[in-house]
Amino acid sequence: MDRAEFQRRNGIIGRSPEILEIVDTIRQVAPTDITILVTGESGTGKEVVARAIHAASRRSERPMVTVNCGAIPEGLIESELFGHERGSFTSAVEQRKGYFEVADGGTVFLDEIGEMPAATQVKLLRVLENGEYSRVGSSQVRTANVRIVAATNRTLEYEVQQKRFRSDLYFRLRSVNIHLPALRNRREDLPPLVDHFVQEVSAKNGIRFAGFTNDATALLMDYDWPGNLRELKNAVESMLILENGKRLDAGTVQKYLKGRTTVVTERNLPVVTNKSVEQAERELIYRALLDIKSNLIELKDLLNHPGTAETATEAAPRNNGSNGNGNLSLDEMERKMILTALERHSGNRRLAARDLNISERTLYRKIKEYGLQE
Ligand SMILES: Nc1ncnc2c1ncn2[C@@H]1O[C@H](COP(=O)(O)OP(=O)(O)OP(=O)(O)O)[C@@H](O)[C@H]1O
Ligand SMILES: [Mg+2]
Repeated sequence: MDRAEFQRRNGIIGRSPEILEIVDTIRQVAPTDITILVTGESGTGKEVVARAIHAASRRSERPMVTVNCGAIPEGLIESELFGHERGSFTSAVEQRKGYFEVADGGTVFLDEIGEMPAATQVKLLRVLENGEYSRVGSSQVRTANVRIVAATNRTLEYEVQQKRFRSDLYFRLRSVNIHLPALRNRREDLPPLVDHFVQEVSAKNGIRFAGFTNDATALLMDYDWPGNLRELKNAVESMLILENGKRLDAGTVQKYLKGRTTVVTERNLPVVTNKSVEQAERELIYRALLDIKSNLIELKDLLNHPGTAETATEAAPRNNGSNGNGNLSLDEMERKMILTALERHSGNRRLAARDLNISERTLYRKIKEYGLQE
């Protein structure tokens, strides 16, 4: 199978040198059992790559099991991965196979690996080093027969530096690292991608699309695509469906691009500006402040109880509401940011968490903490 055919079969559209190189790497490593780490911003196609690796491997007849490490509650992740014996913990009424057993002979795709709790990281390392694991509540050693592909949109090097991710596991994982560049850094892929998504959406919805004006195309090519291919796909879908397939001009297209507004200049050409820069900056500052806050709480706790710093953030007393100066406290800001993100995504927690740059698990915890829902 040549490269073009491989791309077509696996739905990997793109003609930039970066994508072509990635496709070649996939073709080269897929038939082996080597562990692969796929990195890249959200929406760049990490899952598409993982699927292509599995499909082109000798394991393709067996299942690929996807595990979203960021969505499984911390207390359950080991039993989900490795299975458990009956009665090993309160709710374990039945014995249960873990994903490593379910995927036997196939591939385990560990998505959002950067969110994996430290205790589980140790166990994963053991599987990677000698294929061994045990069910929760059992000492019987089992042998895994799976290929592992992991993905993250975090910079694992930074997570290692911050001591949130084990360095030995990181080195083990990144023996082959496929990094997907952001869409704005491979603009040559935009035309074929737009075509592809237009065709896909038209076919699926029976739309006869009348095309883009030149201005509209220029706008699409020039836009930053912070949400990468996912954003592009969604934008094309919304535009084609909501505009009923009619010919799209720049003014219409810009309505569908995140956080952008049109300023009409004297020449009457739409100029795209970033409406939400101010908002984004404010959120960045909040985020930095929140980081400082949790560091301070941890420090304080460390000083008060040396040697028991682990759950410092959780144990520290919360100061809710206004701080007396008429300013919002950090908790209140955080609460507001979460509410705004949830609203923006009509309550979709996965998307809200992504927006806030926190894991779904953390978002669940915070929603509970602030009593925002349920
Ligand atoms: N090269 C590509 N050609 C065509 N479609 C693609 C390509 N890469 C990604 N897509 C599409 O873009 C969307 C996002 O891709 P995917 O889910 O793989 O991203 P991701 O990197 O896993 O994102 P996240 O980090 O948010 O999970 C999907 O609908 C996928 O089908
Ligand atoms: Mg993904």
